[in-house]
Amino acid sequence: MTMDQVRHCAASLPLGLALAAAGAWPMASTAAAAEQPITALDLSRCTQGFGEPGIDKSVEGHPLSIAGTHFAHGLGSHAEMQLPIDLKKAATRFTATVGVDDETDGKGSIEFRVIGDGKRLWSSGVMHGKDAAKSIDIPLAGIAKLILVVTDGGDGIAYDHADWSDAVITYQGAAPESLVVNEPKVVLTPKSAPTPRINGAKVVGVRPGSPFLFTVAATGERPLHFEAVDLPAGLTLDGSTGIITGVLTQRGEHDAVVTASNALGKATRHLRIVVSDRLALTPPMGWNSWNCFASAVTEANIYAAADAFVKAGLRDHGWTYVNIDDFWMPKNRDADATLHGDERSADGKINANPRFPSMKKLTERIHSLGLKAGIYSSPGPTTCGGCVSSYHHERLDAERIAEWGFDYLKYDWCSYGEVEKGEGLEYLKKPYILMGGMLRAQPRDILFSLCQYGMGDVWNWGEQVGGNCWRTTGDITDSWGSMSSIGFNQAGHEVGAGPGHWNDPDMLVVGWVGWGPSLHPTRLTGNEQYTHISLWSLLSAPLLIGCDLTKLDEFTLNLLTNDEVIEVNQDPAGFQARRIIKGDESEVWAKTLEDGSKAVGLFNLGEEEKPVRISWHDLELSGPLHVRDLWRQQDLGIQEDAFQATVPRHGVVLIKVAKPPVP
Ligand code: GLA
Repeated sequence: MTMDQVRHCAASLPLGLALAAAGAWPMASTAAAAEQPITALDLSRCTQGFGEPGIDKSVEGHPLSIAGTHFAHGLGSHAEMQLPIDLKKAATRFTATVGVDDETDGKGSIEFRVIGDGKRLWSSGVMHGKDAAKSIDIPLAGIAKLILVVTDGGDGIAYDHADWSDAVITYQGAAPESLVVNEPKVVLTPKSAPTPRINGAKVVGVRPGSPFLFTVAATGERPLHFEAVDLPAGLTLDGSTGIITGVLTQRGEHDAVVTASNALGKATRHLRIVVSDRLALTPPMGWNSWNCFASAVTEANIYAAADAFVKAGLRDHGWTYVNIDDFWMPKNRDADATLHGDERSADGKINANPRFPSMKKLTERIHSLGLKAGIYSSPGPTTCGGCVSSYHHERLDAERIAEWGFDYLKYDWCSYGEVEKGEGLEYLKKPYILMGGMLRAQPRDILFSLCQYGMGDVWNWGEQVGGNCWRTTGDITDSWGSMSSIGFNQAGHEVGAGPGHWNDPDMLVVGWVGWGPSLHPTRLTGNEQYTHISLWSLLSAPLLIGCDLTKLDEFTLNLLTNDEVIEVNQDPAGFQARRIIKGDESEVWAKTLEDGSKAVGLFNLGEEEKPVRISWHDLELSGPLHVRDLWRQQDLGIQEDAFQATVPRHGVVLIKVAKPPVP
């Protein structure tokens, strides 16, 4: 903070304060009143759903401007935003002028809130782009903790550029400081038992004639021995690894029984194998390079990730896909020579850049571990990162991806809109219908992941164009604002979800993330991470870990290996949770599971811990019901009519409710 920013201002105070400051009235503190612009606080503690906080400029770096009025000073932010401030009970007032920045050209809707010691002191109501600015002038005497909040106005964060212009805290004595939310990260998942347990998907789809690969995921003291009864002819199980391979030529369904045993016991589970055109009968689970390595990704990162699936034990919980995102292909217009190379081979097929010398060896290694491999391209001439992609080469690229041995393609709209112009759903569907057809013509199964950020309400038609999953939103970042506004805005999309076709609210932002090359621990608190994984599991979302798997700490590993939570995500019925209750700062979401029981998330979106309640009536169930805490894997007993839990700030209690067993 500069002296200029802390302006001692007794002279400009209202008469009473000026007199008090001058010593004419007795006051507890003799310090002069001072002003602290919020831009002088440590803004690394400010979280927002997009971009970085702008000091005296908008989130996109323009001069601050609301409804045509320019402001020289203030904070340019973006919903969902939170800035917690320790006032040390020394502040007297907060003044600011707020609104949507003019750079959105009239778009965007947000609500500014000022929270003092857990109570709402001021709210702007929902403000839209071009609305006249609103002034805040509120007393803060006696308040210890202030939180400046911008919500998305209830409709997602697109264009929600929020300006806190001329925002100043007046104080006497100790200066306000940004508050670190210092919640301990509590490990909740109990350690896996030494006795065998079979985890992960209970149903798997394969097309007739395609290579089959499925690993029976199991925990328990090693060595484990695997067996299968009623495995269809054409498939074989490796007894020491649990990896099932082979080919099935006839359409139909098979009910195999797999076992995993060790010196301490034996676990048994049914595995349904469906031979048809449908893939991804449960949401894909795996890892993707983007949220950690982004444009810095190399082949070594992918080998290391695959090895980490095995070493860290992720594979034993059903984690399967190892996916390369953007930047595996040439980008000659880049200063980085490791991206340079011939874009296509003589026969027109896409080449990898020199960072990926042998894709085939890479996928072979991944497959040898019982895992699957994913890759990325765009229907435009270049990817979002500017690398060469599949425009006018769709057939050749699909063939290349299949020859290399990939099992998954993320197909990202990116530059397509720059070369192909059009309108309406047919325009949005066209490149996906084209590539979907090319993938289906390949002699191996390639899961098709659409990435076009939800345009044209893709959840209503993604399945028709052959999509196995489709992004419903823009890109996630590791902030409460981004994750919560994406996650809690998925209500209504459940119409499009089911076995083989899933809504994708983007990849997980837990562990060490950073969009390469430098990484940092996720900025989500422990409770926010429980909310993230619980909500994505309830939503039947693809679970793609976005962090550096070589840096998995105990908390993150624990978060990703709770088999009862994963079972919610992988439930074979494939329903996506519905929002049952939307309170002011709490929500309840419920997902019906295959056996008729329900997984229920009680979420607290507020700043203080609070009780959240769900009645059996609201779940369309009747009591008495048995309640189980899924994160702690603990029974909570029988409840007649309802369940209530105290839920921490930004946290969740995830339960399963079921009819009690008949005595
Ligand atoms: C888009 C996608 C991201 C990532 C990048 C790669 O932003 O939404 O998930 O694939 O492109 O450039």
